[in-house]
Amino acid sequence: MHYLATYQETLEKALSNSIPTHEPANLYEPISYMLSIGGKRMRPILTLLACDVFEEDYNKAIEAAKAVELFHNFSLIHDDIMDNAPLRRGKVTVHERWNLNTGILSGDAMLILAYQLFESYPPHIFKQLAELFSKTALEVCEGQQYDIDFERKDVVSIEAYLKMIEYKTAVLVAAAMAMGAIVAETSEENKKDIYAFGRSLGIAFQLQDDYLDTFGNPETFGKQVGGDIIENKKTVLYLKTLELGTEEQKQELLHLSTISPDNPIDKIAAVTELYRVSGAQEATQREIEKYTKQAQEILETLDIKQDKKQLLHQFSEDLMRRSV
Ligand code: IPE
Ligand code: IPE
Ligand code: MG
Ligand code: MG
Ligand code: MG
Repeated sequence: MHYLATYQETLEKALSNSIPTHEPANLYEPISYMLSIGGKRMRPILTLLACDVFEEDYNKAIEAAKAVELFHNFSLIHDDIMDNAPLRRGKVTVHERWNLNTGILSGDAMLILAYQLFESYPPHIFKQLAELFSKTALEVCEGQQYDIDFERKDVVSIEAYLKMIEYKTAVLVAAAMAMGAIVAETSEENKKDIYAFGRSLGIAFQLQDDYLDTFGNPETFGKQVGGDIIENKKTVLYLKTLELGTEEQKQELLHLSTISPDNPIDKIAAVTELYRVSGAQEATQREIEKYTKQAQEILETLDIKQDKKQLLHQFSEDLMRRSV
């Protein structure tokens, strides 16, 4: 996405300067590692973009953008522990490369570093950023707890699933944008509207994350393809199979999600096939389009210049076509 290159470069520089390099190395090295192994930087880019579309210099939003990315990376370190994930961004996960305790503590430190970054803003901005951030962080925890709770359930309603992904993923995308709007000191209505845009975009984003976890290319995806199947995650693919599959397909999926074989290859292949033949794969793509369109409709109502709308529209389209 060449039109984002300026934001991306600014961010990389700012992020690399924000991690303590002193002792203890086992606390700070995993943080540097996590931040250096890549990532799309979608959320902090959205913070800068949001500041920009409300006609304020995006450089003012850099500290907030860094905070969002630090928080996101903290949540990934802990998420990889919770999901038993071996791979992140094509590299070994922090808890596998170091150990569980290091993953927990480095993650905690990252969360605190994120909060500290808000201290550079004047009190009236600081207050708004901190309030939104705390609310969002707690919602992410709630979403993550639902995600884990659902592993042990056979059936989860679509409503419950949507609430789970809204909390674990979409609220952070929404808050990332609202933070840009807060720094830009735009109207309350604009803040609300950009939050709503980010929320729909975030839901589409998590639906696609579910999709790619099964149908992504293992060579380029950067995470373990089939990880959600191994962990019995109640993804949109799983729920759509129960909704659209034949009785036989449903029973097979329910059976497969009760077994935990030492070698998961056959289970992954069988579940993937069910997701395909039941029509869940295609239905998921339609859902991703639906929520992306919903975001684009909200975008139309935003009180910003046409070229800025175009920029956000392009972003939402590119996100839908991503393979990582
Ligand atoms: C992964 O987020 C976690 C989800 C909420 C799906 P990203 O796909 O944005 O991960 P990186 O930062 O680009 O690696
Ligand atoms: C992660 O959801 C959401 C958070 C990290 C809060 P996933 O567990 O689906 O994310 P990935 O697939 O590991 O990146
Ligand atoms: Mg995960
Ligand atoms: Mg998870
Ligand atoms: Mg995932």
